[in-house]
Amino acid sequence: MGAIEIKENVYWVGAIDWDIRDFHGYSTKKGTTYNAYLVKDEKIALFDTVKKENYSELLHNIHQVTDPAKIDYIIVNHVEMDHSGSLPKIIDLCKPEKIFCSKMGKKALLEHFHREDWPLVEVNSGDSISLGKKTVNFLETRMLHWPDSMFSYIPEDKLLISSDAFGQHWATSERFNDEVYEPELMSHAAKYYANILLIFSPIVQKLLASVQEMGLEIDMIAPDHGLIWRKSPEKIIAAYDGWSRQETRDKAVIVFDTMWKSTEKMANAICQGLISEGISVIMMNTHVNHRSDVISEILDAKAIILGSPTLNNGILPMMADIVTYMKGLRPRGRIGAAFGSYGWSGEAVKHLNAALEEMKIELVDEEGIRVRNVPDHDALKLCVELGKKIGKAIKG
Ligand code: FEO
Repeated sequence: MGAIEIKENVYWVGAIDWDIRDFHGYSTKKGTTYNAYLVKDEKIALFDTVKKENYSELLHNIHQVTDPAKIDYIIVNHVEMDHSGSLPKIIDLCKPEKIFCSKMGKKALLEHFHREDWPLVEVNSGDSISLGKKTVNFLETRMLHWPDSMFSYIPEDKLLISSDAFGQHWATSERFNDEVYEPELMSHAAKYYANILLIFSPIVQKLLASVQEMGLEIDMIAPDHGLIWRKSPEKIIAAYDGWSRQETRDKAVIVFDTMWKSTEKMANAICQGLISEGISVIMMNTHVNHRSDVISEILDAKAIILGSPTLNNGILPMMADIVTYMKGLRPRGRIGAAFGSYGWSGEAVKHLNAALEEMKIELVDEEGIRVRNVPDHDALKLCVELGKKIGKAIKG
């Protein structure tokens, strides 16, 4: 796809990656984009680049707007390789006068590329540079989601170039949010938040408060992945506010693995109890649900219920994968419970309870339910009762 003018003399010059399916553990079933932006003013500035594999697409797009050799400034909002991978080649080509980055960005650039000869210029929150008619204001956004991350704001266009924040992993031929089906867009944005930013929710809250305090007028948000928020950008800001407050609804996610279907029978019975209390339930068997889809469903769920049979005194490996991933992303303010079948030793439920407690999830049943071998009718009734108890707790 060619360069697109998103504001007067501001162009999208990024790349679309239709094929990527795994983004460091995040399942990108519909690909992604690496967005880079070019501002043509008295000074020509390039904001971020793309993965090194997509360099030729970036270059082709820049050529449609200007001779790359005329680029004066490069602004590095974020050093992760999906945005900086093409930097060495583009810097060699255009020999920029200055490369602006945060203090942590400078450190990270040197640690990634080991090029002391690059003209790196540190900027801090509140610093600004003039491109001629347009100004670029910098706002550091440490740990959103790397220490080096920052936003660039062009006040003349009310344009926020937001690095990874407000992004989505979704490859599309459209570039603006008002050109696609909104519910699908929001589901990609929610998945992105759950998998990349959930852990940093307290920092997101502080950032949103400071943006409000600064009174930034935002007419458009241009993230480094996915669609550009041209229509009603306040909607995605409001969504980030809710997600970072970890707001939930009357919903439970039952994540389980099963060896010979006993734990699955228990999961179904717990589900039945929850439904009878009017709770929306999502059943997620680890064999058919990717970890990144599990955490997406957990984003707005009040209850997290984990089930695994016991294997080698522990839990099944696919369950361990998801539990480790979930612990890292730190869902907070949830309630939960554990269950599972076993043959002789039966430690799985104890391990799952420990994981829930580590995530500060309030246990609705401190013991959880363990069933030896295959659950009979009485055991399933206990599971239904657990589901009902969780359902009542969800409703408060
Ligand atoms: Fe899209 Fe943190 O890189």
